[in-house]
Amino acid sequence: MALRRVVKDGEDILRFVAKPVTVFDDKLANVLEDMKDTMFESDGVGIAAPQVGITRRIALVCVDGEEIFELINPVIIESSGSQIGVEGCLSVPNVHGYVERPVELKVAGQNRQGKNVEFNVSGFTAVAFCHEIDHLDGVLFTDKVIKDYSPDKSKK
Ligand code: CO
Repeated sequence: MALRRVVKDGEDILRFVAKPVTVFDDKLANVLEDMKDTMFESDGVGIAAPQVGITRRIALVCVDGEEIFELINPVIIESSGSQIGVEGCLSVPNVHGYVERPVELKVAGQNRQGKNVEFNVSGFTAVAFCHEIDHLDGVLFTDKVIKDYSPDKSKK
């Protein structure tokens, strides 16, 4: 298990357009495992490689604590519907806001062996996919917030 430092808003790397993954080797597998450890340690539902300092098109999503989606070179090829929900981000601590996202998504990409894969996801999983894929293009959820969300501070 290896934890990586999570890059915070304000660091340039979060704003870069990440490069495609072209080599599917043990190094990629190690990056995926480290990202997984870092995501779970931080109680995140997703993480993108730029958040651990790697400008490659790699992201993970796990919204239920069980099924882990590995997204490598992901591309949204279809989307439909609209939902508005509260988002946060490991790189933007203590900030939450309402963001509009599609309800259903079809995403093409590759697995860690380089094989082409396709995902059909909906609901909150679709939100997390969009959020993480945005990271690969240097976009943060705060760029898309339509309304701030302030949880009751007394509950903390
Ligand atoms: Co994020």
